[in-house]
Amino acid sequence: MPKDTVTLTDNSTGKSVELPIRRGTHGPAVVDIGNLYKDLGMFTYDPGFVATASCRSTITYIDGEKGVLLYRGYPIEQLAEGSNHLEVCYLLWYGRLPSKAEYDSFVDTITHHTMIHEGLKDFYSGFHRGAHPMAVMVGVVGALSAFYHDFLDINDPMHREVSAQRLIAKMPTIAAWAHRYSRGQPFIYPQNHLGYAENFLNMMFSFPSEPYTVNPVAARALDLILLLHADHEQNASTSTVRLAGSSDANPFAAVSAGVGALWGPLHGGASESVVNMLKTIGSVANIPKFIERAHDPKDTFRLMGFGHRVYKHYDPRAAIMRRTCYDVLKALNVSDPLFEIALKLEEIALKDDYFVQRKLYPNVDFYSGIILRALGIPTSMFTVIFTIGRTVGWVSQWNEMLTSDERKIGRPRQLYVGAPQRDYVPLEKR
Ligand code: CMC
Repeated sequence: MPKDTVTLTDNSTGKSVELPIRRGTHGPAVVDIGNLYKDLGMFTYDPGFVATASCRSTITYIDGEKGVLLYRGYPIEQLAEGSNHLEVCYLLWYGRLPSKAEYDSFVDTITHHTMIHEGLKDFYSGFHRGAHPMAVMVGVVGALSAFYHDFLDINDPMHREVSAQRLIAKMPTIAAWAHRYSRGQPFIYPQNHLGYAENFLNMMFSFPSEPYTVNPVAARALDLILLLHADHEQNASTSTVRLAGSSDANPFAAVSAGVGALWGPLHGGASESVVNMLKTIGSVANIPKFIERAHDPKDTFRLMGFGHRVYKHYDPRAAIMRRTCYDVLKALNVSDPLFEIALKLEEIALKDDYFVQRKLYPNVDFYSGIILRALGIPTSMFTVIFTIGRTVGWVSQWNEMLTSDERKIGRPRQLYVGAPQRDYVPLEKR
């Protein structure tokens, strides 16, 4: 039987090493290069981690060629159809679906952690009113470590669990308050009789001066968006959380680093950029001009909400989002001209040689903004909503990293191409 190894030869010296192949449940096998430096005195070079698996994981799996996404083995379509965000939170953290009693108890726990420390309320007033809500998120999430230091022993499973529950529970409150602060509106406290998404919408839109009822269509649509964003393998923000957490930093510090990484327009910030792009395009007639710009390598314009490092097929989350746009707009009786532009843009791009050759399809961010707009969520809050959904993924991946038997501080190497060693010349002699 052939050996499950890869042999790598340095042709300049003729020295060879045999590297073991590791195989997972699904997906490409990996070459274990752990001993490469020891045996061959070389590192591997892979900017952007295009061909590098950074860890072993049991949480989420993407088949980018087929457009498959599994959370703990369950297809995203089935979870979107039959589950809800808090059940998915349980699934991602504990690795299995809960019984009815476990589910009820988990929901109760999360519900009773939704309040945030009163001292944190004062923290908001330090921010500029015009600050982007993601700037507020980065700050307030990091500040949680200054308020909840009673459960910060990262080596204690119970402390990790409580911190994870706090993050999942408090994120909607922190997020809604970031919005309220920007508007100069009163902070609305969480209500324990409301569901997770419902509570967020209530904190976003209600006023102490009058009764407010959350539209169940809006609550269900938002819950679905959170569920679809819950985890996505080793993306930039998750890898950031793992890397920050690998130094044994506390979970609030690690997750706030993840919030920062998510903010960028190539990652979670794309949802906001898509809507801004659709507004700039302005009408179906202008689409070809923007498609031309996307072709031009000298133009920095990209079709936001298109393309993905892993998916070379339609993103299954985008397919669910697209269907949901029709349902939500109809149920809420909303007509959005941007939806028409988005549909036409997709149709044109999917037939365009440039996009076809590069296998660029709509990703999760392409249609999410259309739904969020229909719910009355301001554009600047789109990435914040992604943050709420992804929190469970971050904490589950952080927990997996800390409990792995391969746990190590993350510390990539480099190919140094700077100046060779040289002597310092004193200022007066230069
Ligand atoms: N519009 C135009 N061209 C594109 C696009 C796009 N949206 N995406 C990729 N390309 C081109 C790119 O220019 C390159 O062309 P060439 O081979 O001629 O140089 C080729 O396709 C491969 O792209 P890449 O940048 O090497 O691919 P990547 O895997 O490094 O980047 C990406 C993935 C998501 C950053 C990129 O597709 C992109 O910038 N998309 C727009 C931003 C976006 O929608 N981000 C959300 C991603 S999904 C949700 C999330 O992660 O938060």
